[in-house]
Amino acid sequence: MSEELDYLLSVRKEALGPYFEFLKKAGNHLDAKTRSLLSVITKVDAQTEAGFKQYLTRALREGNSADEILDALLVCIPTLGFSKIIWAVHTILEMDIPDFHVEQLGKAKEWHDVINLNELKEGASRFEVGAHACFVFKQGDGIKVYDSRCPHQVTNIPELAIEQTSLTCPKHQWKFDLGSGECVEKGNRMLSCFEHKIENNHLYVLI
Ligand code: FES
Repeated sequence: MSEELDYLLSVRKEALGPYFEFLKKAGNHLDAKTRSLLSVITKVDAQTEAGFKQYLTRALREGNSADEILDALLVCIPTLGFSKIIWAVHTILEMDIPDFHVEQLGKAKEWHDVINLNELKEGASRFEVGAHACFVFKQGDGIKVYDSRCPHQVTNIPELAIEQTSLTCPKHQWKFDLGSGECVEKGNRMLSCFEHKIENNHLYVLI
C-alpha cells in the first residue's frame, strides 16, 4: 500500500477500513495466484506505475511465472487496449526482472551449485547465480538463501546493502532481518527465499 493510503487509513480508518475489508473479502473464492494476476491487470488498466510494480512483484511471489503474467496481459488486450499492454511491457523491461529475460521464458527451474561450504563465511554473502542473484546468510549450521530482488518493487539489492545481520534496500530503504527474512523497517513484506539443498558439501539453489 502507498504512503498516501497508509496516511488516509490512519486518519480515516472508520471510513476507509470497511472498504479495504470489502476488497479483501471480494476475492475470497479465488486462489492467491489468480487474485494477484487480477490485481496486476487492474494496475495496468489504471496505469499506476508504483502499484503495477508492487503487484507484479506479488504475482511472481505468489507463484506466477513470467509466461503466465504475459499471457494474462495479452488475453486482456480486448479490454485494456494495446497501448496499455505496451506501457506494462515497457515498465517490466525497465525493471529488468530476470524471469522476463527472453532466454528465461519457458525455462524450468534448475539446481545451481553456489559454493563449497568450506568457503562459505559466517554471516551474509551475495552471489550471482545465472541470471539471478541471492543473499546467503550462514549462522552456525543454519543457512538461509534469499532472492536479491526486493519484495517491494524488485530492485536488485546490491552487496553494499548488507549491514551485519540486516539488509537495507537502497531504493526506498525497506530494512530486512537476515535471520528471519522479515521486513523490520518501513515495509511490510519479507524477502523471498530460494529453495536450497546441501549435497557433497556444496550449497545448491533452485532458480
Ligand atoms: S524497491 Fe522499494 S524498498 Fe526496495
